[in-house]
Amino acid sequence: MIATAPSITTSTGAQSGVAVHPGQANSLHLTEIPRGEPGPDQVQIRVRQVGVCGTDREIIHASFGTAPPGEASLVIGHEMLGEVTAVGAGVQGFVPGELVTATVRRPDGCPACLAGQPDMCQWLQYTERGIAGLHGFMTESVVEDARWVVGVPREIEHVGVLVEPISVVEKALRQANLIQHRIASWNPRTALVLGAGPIGLTGTLLLRSRGLDVVTMARRPAPHLAAEIVIASGARYVSMQETSIRDIAAELPPLDLIFEATGSAEPGFAAMEILGNNGVLMLISGVGGAAALSVAAADIYRSLLRGNKVIAGSVNSSREDFALAVADLTRWEDLWPGLAARLITRRLAGLTDYARILERPEGDIKTIVEVG
Ligand code: BGC
Repeated sequence: MIATAPSITTSTGAQSGVAVHPGQANSLHLTEIPRGEPGPDQVQIRVRQVGVCGTDREIIHASFGTAPPGEASLVIGHEMLGEVTAVGAGVQGFVPGELVTATVRRPDGCPACLAGQPDMCQWLQYTERGIAGLHGFMTESVVEDARWVVGVPREIEHVGVLVEPISVVEKALRQANLIQHRIASWNPRTALVLGAGPIGLTGTLLLRSRGLDVVTMARRPAPHLAAEIVIASGARYVSMQETSIRDIAAELPPLDLIFEATGSAEPGFAAMEILGNNGVLMLISGVGGAAALSVAAADIYRSLLRGNKVIAGSVNSSREDFALAVADLTRWEDLWPGLAARLITRRLAGLTDYARILERPEGDIKTIVEVG
């Protein structure tokens, strides 16, 4: 049962946040957390919008998430667009009034984190805003170290809340290209994207904007909004209910790159069978459950071996990927004016509307909470 939304009344110095009791299903509630002042190297941000994604829903369903040490609640939200309200004396490069977002993951002491790559954390003891051990952005204001803050130009204000999910596909593509440096002639031309949620769709836009021929497959037969977005980007949309992944692969030139973002395990294993030689399959989205599958293990093994194929996981993203996302969103507005904004299908008015986060109206792609 989700509690009905009370109105916000906070004590002085406190603010409301939408939170869960991690590990307790449907415990979504309004909590109070302190309102912070920026230290010398910090930025205070008034939160304007927070996006909701599959990870948030998993946290709400209690399959994920941890509260900050010593606390019972975790404020959720890791996709944020906000406005700088104050900066510490040592902060350069940010001024009040500027639009910003912030990266999600904070480092632990592992070698990758110490080398500045918390998105590649080896020990998995990292903290993540709104996910693991650190309050998220679904509150009125946050204080953040300037090194995690990323500027968002006014011209993409209407889609700035999408920077975080886009950073996830930016990282995936950047990783694929880094891995494929092993092949002197790497020049991917044909890509398959599995899934047409926010990650599949922004992945489609990214690959199209880099000039690849793209087929995007998802469960539902067209017509629907996600298919329209795919088609408007110049990619082809195919329903997995109407055509199998194998049949599509048989029609296409060799698949150089596959992005798997369906949220289930099975399409990823089908993708292993049809990846082209010297190709790379990037697993980008979380999967629910612990599905047992029967797969053609020896065939997959042989084809990976003979074709020098790669399967790689890619999670989270770095500051560099946020910067790439900002640049690409700006470019997409020129390429396809208004297209990225069509991903935002539902706006909830204020933090008190939190109980509706879990509703999934047919065709919903990205729900955002208008905080301020
Ligand atoms: C976020 C990532 C995060 C991951 C954790 C995703 O929804 O976009 O930043 O690392 O969840 O599972």
